[in-house]
Amino acid sequence: MKKWLPNWRIVSLFSVMALFLAGCGKPFLSTLQPVGEVADMQKSLILLSSAIMILVVVVVSIIFVYVVVKFRQRKGDKEIIPKQVEGSHKLEITWTVIPILLLLILAVPTVSYTFNLADVSEMDKEESDALVVNVTAHLYWWEFEYPEYGVVTSQDLYVPTDENVYFNLEASQVKHSFWIPSAGGKMDTNTDNVNRFWLNFDSERVGQAENLFHGKCAELCGPSHALMDFKVKTMPREDFDQWIENMQGKEHAADTDLAQAGEEIFNQSCITCHAVGADAQADAGVAPNLTNFGDRTKIAGILDHSPANLEKWLKNPEEVKPANLMTNTYGNLNQEEVDALVEYLMSLKVDEE
Ligand code: CUA
Repeated sequence: MKKWLPNWRIVSLFSVMALFLAGCGKPFLSTLQPVGEVADMQKSLILLSSAIMILVVVVVSIIFVYVVVKFRQRKGDKEIIPKQVEGSHKLEITWTVIPILLLLILAVPTVSYTFNLADVSEMDKEESDALVVNVTAHLYWWEFEYPEYGVVTSQDLYVPTDENVYFNLEASQVKHSFWIPSAGGKMDTNTDNVNRFWLNFDSERVGQAENLFHGKCAELCGPSHALMDFKVKTMPREDFDQWIENMQGKEHAADTDLAQAGEEIFNQSCITCHAVGADAQADAGVAPNLTNFGDRTKIAGILDHSPANLEKWLKNPEEVKPANLMTNTYGNLNQEEVDALVEYLMSLKVDEE
């Protein structure tokens, strides 16, 4: 008989698996720690289907082991062929009916949730106060437009808690996929149609991630696919309304000489693609809107939000995010210009301190 796998191999296999799976448990990024109704429904489907699968595997394995042990040919047994059972109605009905029942148990909630999750009829109503966000995925950054308020932002998505947020999803150059693991499954952003879905965030649970969730691009889209992150900031409706008001009313004034110098440089070169301020929305879509750049949680979606990292990004965007569209779009900046731009950009804030 074949020797059993030595114990140490099994132990190391399980340790590696445990280590690997431990990485999946962060509350800001975990499907298994749902933050709202959509994620709850999807998690219950994951658990239900896993339970059914485990049940099938366990039952089949038990029967298999039992049969192998019980009916094996023992030493000294005569070589006999046991009685052959073919066309047993009882057995055939059993192994047809059981899977049908299991599939029904799985199908009923799946179909019901699928229709529920696809219900975006609220978006088509003439008079609806449902919050709609237009998401456009670009080559390695995310644009978020709040059409009813005339506000455009990027990289950090602001959403109110305890209400459904409806999304129109599309992409500008290539296909991406919009995914906030804690809030619900992903949906593709395509270049030739608009996909729609909704998510929500439960105020009692957003605290698990300190109101800051991670979003991901979940469709291979190019060299910087893995770096195409965004953040989701959740807040009560009053705070969200306040944020919208701040975004709309922002008349930014550079408050130091250095920031003023930065503003001048910005207005000479960066403004061709980027925009700052609520009425600079005409250029939306070419490059991220920077109205509230100073409030962001990350530089370029991935680096810690610090002046040093902004400097690094401005000096060599290619190194931070390969194949991004900012590379080579402006001439070399000297240190003085970089310092001024950093000071100016970091001062672009609308959140109250
Ligand atoms: Cu965008 Cu992957």
